[in-house]
Amino acid sequence: MADIGLIGLGVMGASLSLNMAEKGYTVAVYNRTSAKTDAFVAGAGGLAARLEGCHTLDDLVAAVAPPRPIVIMVQAGAPVDEQANALAALLARGDVLIDAGNANFRDTRRRVAAFAEQGIEFLGVGVSGGEEGARHGPSMMAGGAPTAWQRVAPIFRDIAAKFDGEPCAALVGPEGAGHFVKTIHNGIEYADMQMIAEVYGIMRDGLAMASAEMAEVFAGWNHGRLKSYLIEITATVLATRDAASGRPLVEVILDTAGQKGTGRWAAMEAEDLGVSATVIEAAVAARAVSAAREQRLAAAELFGAAATSGLGDALGDKEAALAALEQALIAGKIIAYSQGFAVMASASRAWDWRLPLGTVARIWRAGCIIRSVFLDDIAHAYGEGSDVELMMVEPFAAALKASEATLRQVVATAALNGIPVPALAAALASFDLWRSRRTTADLVQGQRDFFGAHGFERADRPGKGFHGPWAKGEA
Ligand code: 6PG
Repeated sequence: MADIGLIGLGVMGASLSLNMAEKGYTVAVYNRTSAKTDAFVAGAGGLAARLEGCHTLDDLVAAVAPPRPIVIMVQAGAPVDEQANALAALLARGDVLIDAGNANFRDTRRRVAAFAEQGIEFLGVGVSGGEEGARHGPSMMAGGAPTAWQRVAPIFRDIAAKFDGEPCAALVGPEGAGHFVKTIHNGIEYADMQMIAEVYGIMRDGLAMASAEMAEVFAGWNHGRLKSYLIEITATVLATRDAASGRPLVEVILDTAGQKGTGRWAAMEAEDLGVSATVIEAAVAARAVSAAREQRLAAAELFGAAATSGLGDALGDKEAALAALEQALIAGKIIAYSQGFAVMASASRAWDWRLPLGTVARIWRAGCIIRSVFLDDIAHAYGEGSDVELMMVEPFAAALKASEATLRQVVATAALNGIPVPALAAALASFDLWRSRRTTADLVQGQRDFFGAHGFERADRPGKGFHGPWAKGEA
C-alpha cells in the first residue's frame, strides 16, 4: 500500500510527489482531472513505479496504508475546504490531513479544530522553496498535534532540504503555527527582496551602473556577509540577457510587482498583534505602488522626475559607495529580521504556541527562499526560545552598531537624490525609534488627553489617569 497520499498535481504537488517517490516512498496521487493524474504518472520515468494514480477520492483513500497521511496541495482558501471536507467523509479516526499550501493560518486554526471533532488530525505545513525546493528539498514548517507530526515526520524529514545534514523540517507549534511561521517567512522575504531592489535602484539611478556590472557586485556580495539565495539569484537575474531584444532582461521586465497575499498577511498580523513590522509593510506597499503604474506615470508627469542625475561622490568613490551599500543592506536586514522574529515571539505569547524561534531559524537555513548564512547566525544566537529583540543579541548588536551610520548615510543620500528607498528608510526609522530614550509620544498622549480625556501617566510620579488643565481632573 502507499505510504502517503497527495491531492493536487499542480507544480508544487507534482514536485513534492516526485521528491517523496525518489526518497523511496510510494505515493498515491489524485487530481480532479484524471487525465492530469495519468499524464503525471506516465511522465514520471523511473519514479512511476512508486506513484499510484487514483481517479477517485475513494481510490486514493483505499490506496494509502492507515492511519493515512494525505497531503492536500491545492489553491489556498475555499478549494482546501472543499477537498478536505470531501476527504474527511471517507477517512477513519487517526488519519492525518496535511495542508501544504500557503494557507492563511487563521483558516488552519479553524480546520484543525473542526477536524479534531471528527477524530481526524489536521496539520498545516508551510512549504518554502518554490518548484525546485519542492522537488529536491524544501523547508517545511508544520503546525498541529505532535501525534499527527510523528506520523509524517520521517517522510517530511527525508524530503526536506538539509543544512549540515540536519533536515529543514520541524513541528513549530500547535494549530496554525506552521502556516503562521510561513507567513512571516514570506513577509521577511518581501522585505529582503525590496531592500535588495532599493540598493539596485541606487546603483542603477544613482551610480549609473549597467546591469552586468551590478550583477558582478551582487555575485561578489554572495561571498560575504550577505551570502544568500536571494543575493545569488539577484546576480543571476541581472546578468541574464533577453534573447528577443539582446538587452539585459531586467530592462525589459515591466516594473510592476505582483503579490499573492502572504506578505500582506504578515504585515496585517503584525498590526493585529501591535508589533512594529514597518520594513515588511514598506515592502508590501512598494509592490502596491509599483503595480499602480498608470497613477505613477501621471504623478511623474505632474511632478516631474526626481533629480537623480547621479550621486556624484556623496558616498565616496564607486568602491566606497558599493561598500556602503553592502553595509546598509546588512543593517537593514538585521532590523527587518528583528521585526519578523518579534512578530513570531508576540504571536507565540498571544496564542501560547511556544514557538521555538531557534528551530525556526534552523529550518530556514536551507531549502527556503530566504536561506542564508545569516540565518545560521540567528539560529545560534537564539538557541531554543529567546524572546529578546534580535537586533539586541550578539553578533547582531555589534553588526548594527558598526553599520547603522552607513545605513543612515545611504538613506539620506538616496532621499536627497529622490531615489525611493522605503524599506531601508523604514528600517532606519525603526532603529532610531527603538533606541530613543524619549520618544515624541508624550505629545501624542497630551493630544489624546486634550480631545478625548484619555488620561496619561507622568514621568515624575507614579499613577495613571492624569489629565491636563484642559480637562477636569488632576493635572
Ligand atoms: C516560498 C515563496 C512562495 C510564494 C511565492 C511568491 O517560500 O517558496 O514564498 O511560497 O508564495 O513564490 O509569492 P508572491 O506572489 O506573494 O510574491
